Amino acid sequence: MSPKTTPVERSLAGFFFKTVVLFLFCVIIIFMRIDRLLCELNIGSRSEVKVFLKKGLVSVNGVKVLKPETKVDEMSDIISFQGKEYRYRPFVYFMMNKPAGIVSATTDASCKTAVDLLREQCIHLYGGNLSGIPVKDIFPVGRLDKDTVGLLLLTNDGEMAHNLLSPKKHVPKKYYVETDFSIDKDKALMLEKGVDIGEGELTKEAVVELLSEKTCTITITEGKFHQVKRMFQAVGLKVIYLKRLSMGSLVLDSALKEGCVRELTETEVSNLCLKI
Ligand code: URA
Repeated sequence: MSPKTTPVERSLAGFFFKTVVLFLFCVIIIFMRIDRLLCELNIGSRSEVKVFLKKGLVSVNGVKVLKPETKVDEMSDIISFQGKEYRYRPFVYFMMNKPAGIVSATTDASCKTAVDLLREQCIHLYGGNLSGIPVKDIFPVGRLDKDTVGLLLLTNDGEMAHNLLSPKKHVPKKYYVETDFSIDKDKALMLEKGVDIGEGELTKEAVVELLSEKTCTITITEGKFHQVKRMFQAVGLKVIYLKRLSMGSLVLDSALKEGCVRELTETEVSNLCLKI
């Protein structure tokens, strides 16, 4: 006759069983294979990292790991490669002060792109070593024309990018504008109220601050193709210089020279996430 179990024993056994299942679930599904993590950290290709592992160049929490299939907790385990520690960051965020002549794209057959420039700048920023920066997954959030300069956000965070660009979110974008002729108060008012740029409906309300006869800032909450230039064209003016100053809560760092990038601070990232 099998010995009878008490309710307490049964609930303890149930708890133990659930804990083991949860642990196995974490190990199998949630935790990442070390070879994949090393690739994500940009340490090498899948085949290269296998060789690094085999040579004993990788350790996790101080313990050498040789097998590529070893599971690691990428959020908390400390990964070392050739003695240097790496921190896994699923998302990275860069502010670029885009110069003229660069296209806001990841790749382009004939022109240097913002991602090409980011890669160059990261090599300067991180001492010639891109390990840990997933540059291959980064893209510019929205487009600035080739001749437009100023704030460009680059990230691999698709959700944030989607939120910033969604027409439903009305994220404000502020530009500094120089024009060929005077921007008088009437024209500024027309721009503020909305103008016809051939999209079937007037542009949404904007805010214009006149700075001098031919310079102003304009804040718009849409992102139509060449929107600012077309808005000024609609009131008979040509934009001869355009610089983006801010996007949502993110303001172009005045210390960031044209062509340079820096990572966003934690506050900038959390403000962007919160205030969209
Ligand atoms: N509006 C434009 O016309 N060009 C830009 O690059 C951005 C906004």
